[in-house]
Amino acid sequence: MKSLANSFITLALGSIALAAASLVSAQDNAPTFYADALPVFQKNCVACHQPEGPSVGGISAPMPLNDYQQAKAWAPMIKNALITGYMPPWGAHERHRGEFKDERYIDKKELNLLLAWVDGGALEGDPNDAMRAEALVANGAGTVLPESGWWIGEPDLVVEFEAPVYVPDAVKDWQPTIQMMVPEGAHENPKWISRTELNTGGPWVHHIVSSHMGVGVPGRGPFSYPEGWGVLLPENPFVTVNMHYHKNPGEGTAVEDNTSAGFVFYDDGEIIDHVVETNLLPHAGWTIPPGDPNYEVNNTYDIEEDIYLLSMGPHMHYRGKAMRYELEYPDGEREVLLWVPDYDFNWQFLYEYKEPKFIPAGSTMHMSWWFDNSDANRFNPDSTASVEYGPATTDEMANARIYYAPTTRRGIVVGEALPEDVLKMAREDDRIRRERATLYDPTSDDFSWLEEDSR
Ligand code: HEC
Repeated sequence: MKSLANSFITLALGSIALAAASLVSAQDNAPTFYADALPVFQKNCVACHQPEGPSVGGISAPMPLNDYQQAKAWAPMIKNALITGYMPPWGAHERHRGEFKDERYIDKKELNLLLAWVDGGALEGDPNDAMRAEALVANGAGTVLPESGWWIGEPDLVVEFEAPVYVPDAVKDWQPTIQMMVPEGAHENPKWISRTELNTGGPWVHHIVSSHMGVGVPGRGPFSYPEGWGVLLPENPFVTVNMHYHKNPGEGTAVEDNTSAGFVFYDDGEIIDHVVETNLLPHAGWTIPPGDPNYEVNNTYDIEEDIYLLSMGPHMHYRGKAMRYELEYPDGEREVLLWVPDYDFNWQFLYEYKEPKFIPAGSTMHMSWWFDNSDANRFNPDSTASVEYGPATTDEMANARIYYAPTTRRGIVVGEALPEDVLKMAREDDRIRRERATLYDPTSDDFSWLEEDSR
């Protein structure tokens, strides 16, 4: 026993010596901002964390990370955001690496380097080392916004709020659905959407879920369909955005928001082979018990014809915890299409395949949602409530939006007569949207809900 204890002591002493040695060398070679951290920030963070740059989608992150003073000031928060996985923001599990467009994963090595930089005292180093970093400019960062002010090029149609939306001093979080007006006479004939873009009013816009323009989250570029894929925008369409305003409340913080959106249409003579359809796949009829930390809800959806799946957009509210799309092929084989292990309502991601995914007729989609209605969920508005499907953010939702198209090529020539079924579907979708929308009405909203919130 004694010799064992002795060898423990020797071992312990040994590792103290070792720790001391590595401390010394850490001081010598501690990572510096310019040589080590900046290239990693450039690659993983600066697309969103930059000063006046091309705020893609208009939505902005709180501080630039290509600025030493800022990065140093935020160093403890950076460590925390990295350890918790809050940054870089992305919901899909590691297993999906390489599958979706605009994915945001940080390599383990790079993550460790940033942690070492913070732990080493967030040293500045030699600005000349920045040359190396510049070679590694992140996707989109540093690109110059075209003169038109739109990444999609000069839009064929621009839609805007009827009047600027007033976001009062007291607002911290607010999510109104607002109509975007199509200028009189600007869209009297159906057209095929090729690309769309949200041009947000300012940094107080945290994210946007739109009826036609995809999802606007920080750092996300415009929304474009693959060539030959499109959606028909019928005449005089009903276009809406669900805005998520987020700012520090207080005296003098009120803003007027002027978000707009642009569309680029296919030109006459181009061919539409795949007419994109979308399905919200909402699932209701369940009740989450008060306090339940892990309530599971399941639904299935039968795929009746061969399709190409373009993208998936899980949607829950503040109690949303995790979500999974799983495909059961006709032969019984199963494949997880999307696993979001740590769902965050604040980030409405749309997971778009790099290559549309073929799904054969006869397959079944199995969708599962998990909710945390306990107090351990810091976003939970009320853990004593029994919660059902509903539109308010204090209700819940279990949606599994998909964008897809039948595999059969349509060969529609843009500008020639539209197939009856396509036109009918586009108009029907528009009618349903109009009917179901709960729009914000500036003439009747007296913002009394702000007082209720602050109880
Ligand atoms: C897709 C855009 C995007 C990317 C990429 C991104 N961030 Fe962020 N980041 C944001 C936004 C937006 C916020 C504000 C979040 C909020 O209000 O909750 C934020 C907030 C933060 C915060 C403050 C967190 C807090 O608790 O207040 C830190 C620290 C941070 N980011 C670090 C990073 C680092 C480090 C990286 C790269 C490894 C990174 N971010 C990548 C958009 C991004």
